[in-house]
This record gives sequence, structure tokens and C-alpha cells, in this order.
Amino acid sequence: MLFKQLFDAETWTYTYLIADLSTKEAILIDPVNTHIDDYIALLEEQGLQLKYTLETHVHADHITAGGLLRQRLGAQTAVSELCGAKTADIQIQDGDVFSFGDGEQIKVIATPGHTPGSLSFLWRDRVFTGDSLFIGGCGRTDFQGGDAGALYDCITRRLFTLPDETLVYPGHDYQGRWVSSIIQERITNPRLAGKSRGQFIEIMANLNLPKPRLIDEAVPANRYCGLDENERQDAVAPRDASVPVRQELTAQDLVSQAKQHIAEVTVDTAKQLINEGNLVVVDTREESEYAAGHLDEAVLLPRGVLEFKIGAVPELADKSKAVLIYCRSGGRSALAAQTMQQLGYKNVLSMAGGFEAWQKSLGQ
Ligand SMILES: [Fe+2]
Repeated sequence: MLFKQLFDAETWTYTYLIADLSTKEAILIDPVNTHIDDYIALLEEQGLQLKYTLETHVHADHITAGGLLRQRLGAQTAVSELCGAKTADIQIQDGDVFSFGDGEQIKVIATPGHTPGSLSFLWRDRVFTGDSLFIGGCGRTDFQGGDAGALYDCITRRLFTLPDETLVYPGHDYQGRWVSSIIQERITNPRLAGKSRGQFIEIMANLNLPKPRLIDEAVPANRYCGLDENERQDAVAPRDASVPVRQELTAQDLVSQAKQHIAEVTVDTAKQLINEGNLVVVDTREESEYAAGHLDEAVLLPRGVLEFKIGAVPELADKSKAVLIYCRSGGRSALAAQTMQQLGYKNVLSMAGGFEAWQKSLGQ
């Protein structure tokens, strides 16, 4: 077997590679998008086939590489069914078992509390605890539906009841520690050792931690396995028919569904409306795309952070005002228009064909 603990120094995140060197099947736990080339190089070096990427939860501090690895290598993405990541290939439930290699099994232990969909993965004598249990600590419970009582219950009842010698591999460590064990955490973890449920809840309520730097980008992106909207539209990977797919909604499905609920206008109509004035033009692409060229009148509001940032756009304070929204080709803007309607905007129009059609109409 091959086991590697990989580290993202930007976000102090651990990623784990487990592979059976006889069958060459591999899995990755919590891969980080900025390291995709490293993962692919590592897999190629060993001649490995990536079967699954498993997420311990929807991360707020980094973006997963799961979606990109699915596109590039055909690996199935797996996230808890409670995470709202509808495009993941596998919606994980407590007790599920992932099989790979020659009889290797990874058992799923639901460990909610940091988020409702948080999971731990047990493989042989090691448990990968994500942000549920850290070395000498645990994940915060003050956002993303966190629940300190639930975290106390699952750590004490499900993780601390594993054999003492089980190795604990966390989702992060901020002090350069790599591994712990169940007995070590049960006896020495300052938040849990000898603490009652009430004491633990009180500790967790008084951590006063700052908001994670990447939360506004990472959480929405991770619900789509880390892909941005352009990538999501191309995100169709070959499937292994032997792997059960419980629930699946592709990006194309989401766009076609959205288009049934919103109004689209052509580029010509859009030009006319802009000339008449009295509407807000919104560019819902990524910042880099906007920087490379956009409609003069447009305010930037990327689709992935729309719900989080819309309140900070003064032009959109009046929900009765007409909004013309566009993206690269018309897919993202359909989704964004639907979201804006759900947020109470009365008159939202999506520009069919997006900025590409706009430039084409100008002969560019
Ligand atoms: Fe987390």
C-alpha cells in the first residue's frame, strides 16, 4: 500500500493519498485545487488510477480539487448528502463503505458538528477526521450550520470509542504536527479531555475566531466540487458503471432548469434596453474575466459569491429596478438571474449568448 500525507501550506490543509500498489487504485481525501498538478504528477509517477476523491465536508478555507480531478482523470467525487453538493457523483451517507484496491475499505463515520455534513473516514488503523477532530483541538462550530453539542456527541461516542491505538489524521494542523491517536486525544485534547458536554459547548461559544478568509468563494465553489461555472458546464467525466450514483444533476441540467424560470433577451434587445437606460447591468463572471473586458455599464458580481456579496452592491439596493445580467455564454447568468429572482428582484433579464455574443455583434 501507499499512504501519503500531503500539505497545503497556504491553508494548513492535509490531503491524504491512499493507493493499492498491486491494483494501482487510489483515492484522495480532501484534495486542494491549487495542487492538482502535483496530484496528477504523483499519480502518474506511481502509475495509479484515481478512483474517488472523498471530502470530509464542504470546506470554507480552501477549494477542493475534486471537480477538476473528475474532469481530468474521471475520478468520482463523493461528499456527504447533507452538504448540498448536488453535482457530486456520490452523496455519502453514514455507514457507507468505499471499496478500492485488493479488498481495501474505507468506512464512513458521520461526525456532524463542525458542519452538519462533516464526515470521518476510517481506513485500517487510521481515521481521517477532517475538521471534526484536530490534534489538541477540533473544528469551529460557529458558522456553516455548526453545532457544538452535536460535535461533542460524535467525538465522544463515535471517535473516542474507536480502538485506542487508531491513528488520527486531521484535516488541518496549524503547528506542524502530523498525526495523533485516539487515546492521545481522549486523554490530552484540552477541549475534550475530562470536559462535560456543557463545558465543551461553553468553550466553543467563546473562541471568538475571525471569519475564514476564503469562505465567500470556497463554500459556494465546493458545493460544485470546486469547479467554477465555466468548468462546471464542461464537467462531464467518464463514469465507472460499477459505482452506484445516488443522485446526480449536471451543470447543464441546472442551467436548463433555470432557463425555464427566467427571462432571456437577445444581444440586440439588451443594447436597446441599455440605451434606454434605467436598468442595472451585472457581469456575473469571475473577476479575471471581467478585468479582461466587460460592458462599460456593468458592475461585477461573480455568480459563485452572488448571495454573499449582493448586499454590498449599491446599484442593486432597489429590488424593483430592472437588471440585465450576463456571463461568458449565457449559462451562469441564467443561474444568477434565477438566484436574484429568489432573492426578490422583480425584473431580471439574462443576456442570451453572454459576452461572447455581445463581442460577436460588434465584430470583435
Ligand atoms: Fe472546515
